[in-house]
Amino acid sequence: MNFDPTIYAQRRARLLTQMQHGIAIIPTAPEVARNADTHYGYRHDSNFYYLSGFIEPEAVLVLIAGDEPKTMLFCREKNLEREIWDGHRVGPDAAAEQFGFDAAYSIAQLDEKLTELMGNQPALFYPMGDDAAWDQRILKLRSAVQEKVRSGIRAPDEIRDVRALLNEMRLFKDAHELDIMRRAAAISTRAHQRAMRFTRPDIFEYQVEAELLHEFCSHGARHPAYTSIVAGGANACVLHYVGNNAKLTDGDLLLIDAGCELDGYASDITRTFPINGKFSAAQKDVYEIVLAAQAAAISAAQPKQTWNAPHDAALRVLAQGFINLKLCHGSVDEVLQNESYKKFYMHRTGHWLGMDVHDVGDYKIGDNWRALQPGMVLTVEPGCYIRPADDVPMALWNIGIRIEDDVVITEKGNEVLTNAAPKTVADIEELMRKS
Ligand code: GLY
Ligand code: MN
Ligand code: MN
Repeated sequence: MNFDPTIYAQRRARLLTQMQHGIAIIPTAPEVARNADTHYGYRHDSNFYYLSGFIEPEAVLVLIAGDEPKTMLFCREKNLEREIWDGHRVGPDAAAEQFGFDAAYSIAQLDEKLTELMGNQPALFYPMGDDAAWDQRILKLRSAVQEKVRSGIRAPDEIRDVRALLNEMRLFKDAHELDIMRRAAAISTRAHQRAMRFTRPDIFEYQVEAELLHEFCSHGARHPAYTSIVAGGANACVLHYVGNNAKLTDGDLLLIDAGCELDGYASDITRTFPINGKFSAAQKDVYEIVLAAQAAAISAAQPKQTWNAPHDAALRVLAQGFINLKLCHGSVDEVLQNESYKKFYMHRTGHWLGMDVHDVGDYKIGDNWRALQPGMVLTVEPGCYIRPADDVPMALWNIGIRIEDDVVITEKGNEVLTNAAPKTVADIEELMRKS
């Protein structure tokens, strides 16, 4: 990927304009120890990355708004000894230039510099509550500034949550972000195709997971955006199943919810298909209902429709389907009113998607669902999960189905990023027959 610092500089400029006055302090994520000398794979903080493009740990972004805005990065110093063990560090001198900051300093200078920079700033913009250790450190630094009151220096009166501004910016994806998200989605669709080709009875869920990870990594997406769900048979009725260690049974369905992260952006796809390549009559009956609900929800994902319109559209189709299957009783309106559908469909139909798989952004403005607008990206993921129960037809027991795609709202309607992963009964069966 060619790194273009202007994209990040423009985002910083937009944030500075919205802040008007004050100082913003945005740390990246801490490294997290796994055990002994090993750490979990490092993942930067999304807000920090959004404004910097910088992926090293131990870094903090500082922005000063006002008539003469200023942008600063604090990062690790060059250190040959550490670089021999842990790899390259950009270092403050090169970072200022390469990442387009007005200035960059060693992270070791952070406390001293912040005590200076916070002085006489009217407001402190900070992601309060994100990280307890940072909260304490920042409040302590603010107290240190307060102690300078007799020298005529004031600490920021106001602490504002910088995420209120950033979440709204991040909700609308720019062309650079959409390009990455299209590529992430394309890799994930290949992974789902690969999993369908590979799946057969008597292998283990983790073997299918390995195929997904192989496809992600071999296209440059080194990590999944979240732990892959590879759930055969009844496991599909556990919404957050991540055990992935059961043997796949002939005649069952396999639900895979998996997506890669590419260059800091998530994809999120679910497909459900027969382990032996052919849907049974009962599985097909349920599958067609979920697929129709998804089609209705995607059609409702249009500019000016509200955030909730796709969910409402999916629910109506599901409710009618559940009545036809004798899972629910009464009219569609009654089923929606008494919420009896919730026994089989207990989650919502999607979420914002971006750097985080459940991305930031408000879903309501005041008391009202917000309108969908071009540049927003959401998932559309209805499902049906049928646990064994006396009042449920036995032929449907343990069928768990979800179908999930990633959708960008455009000026004219929407763009589905993940259509290349087969989802009609005919397309799935054809792909599996050929392999
Ligand atoms: N994979 C998480 C979700 O679908 O929300
Ligand atoms: Mn999702
Ligand atoms: Mn998902």
